[in-house]
Amino acid sequence: IKMTCWILVVVAILAVRGLHGLDNGLGLTPPMGWLTWERFRCNMDCDRDPDNCISEHLIKAMADIMAANGYRDAGYEYVIIDDCWLGPERDTNGRLVPDPNRFPSGIKNLSAYVHSKNLKFGIYQDFGTKTCGGFPGSEFYMQTDAETFADWGVDYLKFDGCNSNLYDFPSGYEAMGFFLNKTGRSIFYSCEWPFYKIVSGLQVDFAKVRKTCNLWRNYYDVQDSWSSVLDIVNFWGSNSKIFTKYAGPGGWNDPDMIILGNFGLSYEEERVQMAMWAILAAPLIMSNDLRHIRSSSKALLLNRNLIAINQDKLGIQGILLQKQNGIQIWSRDLSFNRTAVAFLNENSDGMPRFLSFSLVDLKLTSSTYNFTEAFDMKTNILVTRQRPLKIKVNPHGINLYIAKEMHL
Ligand code: GLA
Repeated sequence: IKMTCWILVVVAILAVRGLHGLDNGLGLTPPMGWLTWERFRCNMDCDRDPDNCISEHLIKAMADIMAANGYRDAGYEYVIIDDCWLGPERDTNGRLVPDPNRFPSGIKNLSAYVHSKNLKFGIYQDFGTKTCGGFPGSEFYMQTDAETFADWGVDYLKFDGCNSNLYDFPSGYEAMGFFLNKTGRSIFYSCEWPFYKIVSGLQVDFAKVRKTCNLWRNYYDVQDSWSSVLDIVNFWGSNSKIFTKYAGPGGWNDPDMIILGNFGLSYEEERVQMAMWAILAAPLIMSNDLRHIRSSSKALLLNRNLIAINQDKLGIQGILLQKQNGIQIWSRDLSFNRTAVAFLNENSDGMPRFLSFSLVDLKLTSSTYNFTEAFDMKTNILVTRQRPLKIKVNPHGINLYIAKEMHL
């Protein structure tokens, strides 16, 4: 019966909409914002931990800081609640109900508060019968939930895939996208559909994912550690041919949240995550405690040069050129005939590595380039066919440059 329902939904969608795919005008560059999950998880213990439990208090506090401390002005615009905002049951009309103790003013008022700070508001739901945290999921309620979100002023939906049938994903995610569009409200649509399929060893139709979603997770959740960030980077490196080409204005591959400012990364490792997420044209969705953040982490998060690379209008996702002896070379084509080139040193051997690369190594075909160090945009290095790029890269560190052809 379930399968028949899906087939009917899909036939209805195709009849109304044709096969043109997602066209909601959103996500022309990768989204930027803040999300509860990595840092605050499913903390519902407001008695013992009132400032950190998932609640309207937490969301308002982050919105205040994003507006007051430069994050919004740097481009971070979405404030998103992940799992564990719901109460245990729907109401008698089948509508979703937030936990009344932690969200006493209701979600509509919370989104109005976020909007009053000139920020956008996002929320989480799940395609299956329950969310990953065990709260009521959207299965069989997708239209109702899409309408509820629009009514509440939601601007961004993260739609998870726990407690569902993997084979229903293409039609189910498409159905939710259809109902979101039908509300008439512009709602950015973030999906987890490829991740669950890939880790189950199943193929993903990325062309269809791109038509359906503005953003899609391909791999495991980021954790608060260097090994997790590196594992994600390596997965992206070894799967470039599978999903890289589907990224572009309107839809992006999602290597998960930015964890700068938390417990697990050193300063060098934080530089790696910011620079690599720029190379990967990845969303800059932070999950951290902006009330307590090191100034060095904040400076990286607000680094306009890195953000400009991340947000480059062409939206071409970078690729791994080569990896040797724990040194990865990544390259991303940018607008104005520029190329971002990153050198990532995975090694833990304490001393910086001295490295030398020719233009051929870097797949740069002209004879002369100016390499500008990209974190500060202050140092320039001339590289020619005869003169290689000589650099020093810290352990667990990254050097990032913007290469521009020179006509001498
Ligand atoms: C999954 C997702 C995470 C987060 C949790 C919430 O694990 O991948 O990003 O949304 O569910 O329960």
